[in-house]
Amino acid sequence: MKVTIDGHIIEVEAGTTVLQAARMIGGASVPPTMCYYSKLKDCGGKCRCCLVEISKGSERDPRPMPKLQPSCVTAVQDGMEVLSANSPRALEARQAVTEFLLINHPLDCPVCDQAGECDLQNLAYGNGNFKSRYIEEKRTFEPENIGPYIQLHMNRCILCYRCVKLADQLTPERVHGVVGRGDHAEISTYIERAIDNDFSGNVIDVCPVGALTDKTFRFKSRVWFNKPFNAHRHCTKCSGKVTLWMFGDAVQRVTARKDEWHEVEDFICNECRFEHKNVEDWIVEGPRKFEKPSVINVNNYTTHLKKVKIETEELVLEGRDEDRKKISMSGSPYNEKEKEAIEKTKEE
Ligand code: SF4
Ligand code: SF4
Ligand code: FES
Repeated sequence: MKVTIDGHIIEVEAGTTVLQAARMIGGASVPPTMCYYSKLKDCGGKCRCCLVEISKGSERDPRPMPKLQPSCVTAVQDGMEVLSANSPRALEARQAVTEFLLINHPLDCPVCDQAGECDLQNLAYGNGNFKSRYIEEKRTFEPENIGPYIQLHMNRCILCYRCVKLADQLTPERVHGVVGRGDHAEISTYIERAIDNDFSGNVIDVCPVGALTDKTFRFKSRVWFNKPFNAHRHCTKCSGKVTLWMFGDAVQRVTARKDEWHEVEDFICNECRFEHKNVEDWIVEGPRKFEKPSVINVNNYTTHLKKVKIETEELVLEGRDEDRKKISMSGSPYNEKEKEAIEKTKEE
């Protein structure tokens, strides 16, 4: 089948989606995605970030589609013509979707472990409107403990369903899902059960935002201070192929390897992810490159910013004046002993 996207003509198999065809072309025509994940079945159609304009339906029926279509769930037709980066309507709609995703999203980037590799942060930077029109109080959720390895921060969830699909398709028994409706919908475990099975840690990698993060890496370091290396070990449960995020000789965290679309290549087991934090446990293959234009890559963090104290946890934060009191995380990541140690270092 022949499809034209932003003037680029490509031949694809029947059943290919517009998004997949755009990814084959590459470049600016590839729509952003927050819920679609090519490694998971039936994923997509939730976030509306990937909207495109179909200016010609097909050779047989050349009428344009009146509404913008989500490219991740729209199948290509022979002779279809699509406008992605060349459609002011689609770009405006993506901007509006980004604004919607952000209305209830906390301004947690200064304290969020996902910052620097967060798809929402990248989307907001690339597509967003830097001013919010939302003046109402943001919706918040009570913190919930879902086990020793995974930190759930529901305030940051965009309800993309990727973690639910992953648990359905990769683990024998799913114990979490989306409960509640509309504004009350939230990711939760059934009666506070821990998410605990060999492949559960992969929800951290598929979560596009900082709603599910690695407890063993929590507040250890900003991601841009770590250097990613490809490494592997012999593992009986998974391929053992991972990315080690190193600070000097210390393994700060272990993640699966991701491709150019920020999607996991091979899902890894919890043992590789959480229990092998010594570099001797691994055969290091070599350094990795950051795959995608991202907040880290465009060096936004190198611009000099005037520092101000944020009125929350004294020891944790520094940031912009307008972020004061908007941090959704309450409490300190340090225990009393660690706080004393920090105070002592300050005095010395
Ligand atoms: S998930 Fe974290 S890094 Fe991403 S936009 Fe939200 S607060 Fe910022
Ligand atoms: S927790 Fe993350 S992966 Fe799960 S629905 Fe929310 S944003 Fe998506
Ligand atoms: S990526 Fe297509 S709707 Fe979310």
